[in-house]
Amino acid sequence: MQERPTSVRTDAMILVFVLAVLSRLAGTSSDSQSSQVVLTKGFSASPSSRVDAFQPVLVDQSGNFSLGFLRVNRTGLAIAVLHVASSQPVWTAGSAAGSQSWSDHVEIRFDGNLTLSDSSSGHVYWSAGEAGDRVVLLNNSNLQVQRLSGRSDGSYDVAWQSFDYPTDTLMEGQNFTSGMSLETADGLYSMRLGSDFIGLYAGFSGSNSGGQMYWQHKALEAKADITANGGPIYARVEPDGYLAMYQNSTIPVDVEAFSTYHRNISAFRLLRLEPDGNLKAYYWGDSSWKVDYQAISEFCELPSPCGSYGLCKPGGGGCSCLQNRTDHKPGPCATLGSGNLCSGGSRFTVLRRNGVELPYKQLMDYQTVSSLQDCESACAANCTCHGTVYNNRSGFCYPIYYPVQTLLSVGDEAKVGYLKVSAPHGDGSYKVGVGVGALMSVLVGAVVVGVFGLVGYRVWSRRGVTGYLGGDNGASPGPYKDLASASFRSIELTGK
Ligand SMILES: *[C@@H]1O[C@H](CO)[C@@H](O)[C@H](O)[C@H]1NC(C)=O
Ligand SMILES: *[C@@H]1O[C@H](CO)[C@@H](O)[C@H](O)[C@H]1NC(C)=O
Ligand SMILES: *[C@@H]1O[C@H](CO)[C@@H](O)[C@H](O)[C@H]1NC(C)=O
Ligand SMILES: *[C@@H]1O[C@H](CO)[C@@H](O)[C@H](O)[C@H]1NC(C)=O
Ligand SMILES: *[C@@H]1O[C@H](CO)[C@@H](O)[C@H](O)[C@H]1NC(C)=O
Ligand SMILES: *[C@@H]1O[C@H](CO)[C@@H](O)[C@H](O)[C@H]1NC(C)=O
Ligand SMILES: *[C@@H]1O[C@H](CO)[C@@H](O)[C@H](O)[C@H]1NC(C)=O
Ligand SMILES: *[C@@H]1O[C@H](CO)[C@@H](O)[C@H](O)[C@H]1NC(C)=O
Ligand SMILES: *[C@@H]1O[C@H](CO)[C@@H](O)[C@H](O)[C@H]1NC(C)=O
Ligand SMILES: *[C@@H]1O[C@H](CO)[C@@H](O)[C@H](O)[C@H]1NC(C)=O
Repeated sequence: MQERPTSVRTDAMILVFVLAVLSRLAGTSSDSQSSQVVLTKGFSASPSSRVDAFQPVLVDQSGNFSLGFLRVNRTGLAIAVLHVASSQPVWTAGSAAGSQSWSDHVEIRFDGNLTLSDSSSGHVYWSAGEAGDRVVLLNNSNLQVQRLSGRSDGSYDVAWQSFDYPTDTLMEGQNFTSGMSLETADGLYSMRLGSDFIGLYAGFSGSNSGGQMYWQHKALEAKADITANGGPIYARVEPDGYLAMYQNSTIPVDVEAFSTYHRNISAFRLLRLEPDGNLKAYYWGDSSWKVDYQAISEFCELPSPCGSYGLCKPGGGGCSCLQNRTDHKPGPCATLGSGNLCSGGSRFTVLRRNGVELPYKQLMDYQTVSSLQDCESACAANCTCHGTVYNNRSGFCYPIYYPVQTLLSVGDEAKVGYLKVSAPHGDGSYKVGVGVGALMSVLVGAVVVGVFGLVGYRVWSRRGVTGYLGGDNGASPGPYKDLASASFRSIELTGK
């Protein structure tokens, strides 16, 4: 469904808008503006030091969405399209380059080409790449650079649109094609389309290029088949409450229903790849985003719910460590080494644990071997292998080619984990060191989390961006998650 702006604004209207924006630059509010607004050639705006969360530059006709400067990590800056009522960013750009900070040197400029640049050095951080005559934000959050079509009706064509470059969110009506990906802000998790499926991937360092798939949804092809030469598939969130996959027809090759499927709810919908690697759909109702779907419903099936060398007990049993520490605190269980076992002279010790399983083993490669010994020895000799999980009954041997993440705790003692732990600088006194060192880091960590967690929370609240998508499924052990995110924030705050 292509939306086309219905009218062409006069210059006077644009002037009024520009003045309105300029007068608002100093304010911190992101209140909405009810008229449709447009950026024309010659527009530029810079962030104000008095704004502590989001500074709008352009709003859509409905006032539901706004394009502007978003503070990232307090001092950094990105341009973002925000859902105004929840302060939820639905699209961001320009933050990947990393270095630009919130300063009045930075400007959004439209001179035919929409850019984020440094006005003193001229350095361009981000550019839409396709030139046009005006910039509009549609009421579905799609940011478009539009070009005069040259037709007699004075209509515009789309030169560039943000819907073709999603970040972690797919909006209702937005086509997700095989050339796109959704990615979490840290780049760890991504969603992509295969020839007949949707896949979620974890880019744990060292994993094969493209990452380790941890969730897959294959097209059912109930109403239409995927044909070999019908072209690539694409996916779209539909207003009736489902995620559809299509090939070259309007009849979907797959329908993944949300909870409100066919319930005739006329609310705005979106699909988001969460920082923990889950994929969730939401609808906007009663002034908040309601969870309508989640790809992974069991906490332990997330790609790494308890961090590296963690152990997750299904059924709400929470997190512990593969190493026999009962005092598990937030953070990775084995902090030793970066996990690179191939760098010269790297040594490792071995951690063995019975009753463990890989969380997404059905998506991992395995070999059938005749003994535990055969499974482990192949891994022991290969530095790209970080461990194995062997099933003593079936003979299946799963090698792990990325730094060890969370394993599942299962009752079956015949499932044996063999896990390499890189030793610090070949220190022979490793075993003792772990106990004391780990205890120390836990204690220090607890203090740091305690102090900065509080500061972090205050600063975060003050930012005003409090409406991030909630909807925890309740399966995650609360304290673990809360503390973990508090400690991340403290790192962000003290990093600069
Ligand atoms: C999505 O794809 C359909 C079918 O190809 C097309 O008609 C529609 O205009 C596209 N929508 C957007 C927002 O690009
Ligand atoms: C968005 O715009 C389209 C046409 O441009 C219109 O049909 C629709 O009602 C609008 N939606 C809202 C929420 O304003
Ligand atoms: C958009 O605005 C309309 C009218 O103000 C409101 O009813 C609707 O809930 C809003 N939609 C979203 C997604 O914020
Ligand atoms: C827009 O600006 C960028 C950065 O200066 C440049 O690489 C790109 O070619 C420009 N695009 C157009 C269409 O002028
Ligand atoms: C889709 O592509 C296949 C293969 O080219 C073709 O047989 C089929 O008719 C196409 N379907 C539509 C609806 O265009
Ligand atoms: C869906 O809701 C609209 C308005 O709320 C109503 O007019 C329509 O009849 C409903 N359709 C069904 C199938 O219930
Ligand atoms: C962990 O510690 C408990 C109690 O100290 C002991 O019974 C258990 O065997 C240990 N497990 C492992 C895997 O070392
Ligand atoms: C180590 O394992 C990787 C992945 O299976 C394989 O490509 C490589 O050849 C192996 N290296 C050795 C020395 O066996
Ligand atoms: C594996 O199976 C063998 C033979 O069935 C048995 O002797 C051995 O104890 C089993 N090992 C484990 C760890 O279950
Ligand atoms: C915020 O800072 C942290 C730590 O410096 C960094 O890891 C993270 O990527 C930053 N976030 C963004 C969105 O740049």
